[in-house]
Amino acid sequence: MITQELKNKIEDFLYSFSSAVTNMNLYSIEHPITLKTIEKSFDLLREILINKQSLRISVIDERLFIEDEPLWRKGMIISNIAEKFKTKNLNSVNFLPGVEIKEFTQFISEFAKPFRKGGTEIHSTSHIKIGKLSLSEEHEIPSKKKMMDLEKSIPSFVNEMEELKEIFDKVKSSKEAAVGNLKEMVLRFIKGLRECGSPLLLLLPFKSHEEYLYTHSINVSILSLAQAESLGLEEEALTNVGIAGLLHDIGKMFVPKEILIKIGILNKEEWEEVKKHPVEGAKLLMKIPSIPSQAVLSAYEHHVKFDGSGYPQKKYNGNPSFFSQLITISDFYDALRTERPYRANLAHDDAVSLMDIKSGTDFNPKLLANFILLF
Ligand SMILES: [Fe+2]
Ligand SMILES: [Fe+2]
Repeated sequence: MITQELKNKIEDFLYSFSSAVTNMNLYSIEHPITLKTIEKSFDLLREILINKQSLRISVIDERLFIEDEPLWRKGMIISNIAEKFKTKNLNSVNFLPGVEIKEFTQFISEFAKPFRKGGTEIHSTSHIKIGKLSLSEEHEIPSKKKMMDLEKSIPSFVNEMEELKEIFDKVKSSKEAAVGNLKEMVLRFIKGLRECGSPLLLLLPFKSHEEYLYTHSINVSILSLAQAESLGLEEEALTNVGIAGLLHDIGKMFVPKEILIKIGILNKEEWEEVKKHPVEGAKLLMKIPSIPSQAVLSAYEHHVKFDGSGYPQKKYNGNPSFFSQLITISDFYDALRTERPYRANLAHDDAVSLMDIKSGTDFNPKLLANFILLF
């Protein structure tokens, strides 16, 4: 029987283990971010093993089990680990007391290695015992080709950028929105998230200041969808979160271009112009009946902080809506991660640490904690 306290600790371990795996692929094994997440998950593992003879994680029918208990929480991180088990042809990993950082790092490195880069081999060590599927169970394993397709299937949403630009232009000129196209785009994001597990792999890189509005809007949509899905939102609500993310900054089309692409700090007048975009965006979207009402609201509220400060109003009356709170988090994260005319981009850990300082003031603390666990 696993106590609640231990369950929480194991859950924390799995989340930091998963981010170590992601960082290993995104950066390198020597990168400080990777090393930090490996150390964090190793420390948690050691704490767990102080009071336990072993920690056995297994996957049966795509569900993660700790000992004989199914994992109590669903989410992208968990399905990410389960998926990796599947592609690695594993059914269990057993961690034993005495495990050392060197063998743990070796294990993560083998576990993280993509199939297409020869990442099929994974070995037992003195304190980490690997259970592989037996030959009789092999029929349940996807074929080699299928596994390779799975790892190659990380989609790129570059074409969506052009499509979004056209939609924004049409909304501005004719007050008409191809909501059906937005919906389809969001469904592609949801599919991409489910297939590749981590929102980080899907985010579009910064291309140019001219295109920033579109890459940023797509990234905010993807990050908000990842949050919403991990919180259990389904179908219509999920699609509307994605649409709201895509449209949150549409009011920026009314900000003079020279201000948007200006290199350096904005002066007071320029800043006042930028601060109009939530009102302009909401006013525009309100004129289009097919736009979900949550998208209108989050266009208006996405710069309202959790404590009611921010803009367009000096002090907001009440809390921003749930959708707006999700979008505010995604918006801030993507802005920090992207190079802007007035500052360099921040690494993932630095962006998250900075946001954590503002937990409870700028961001809903529970939603921010959940957001951090997505990676
Ligand atoms: Fe904005
Ligand atoms: Fe934004």
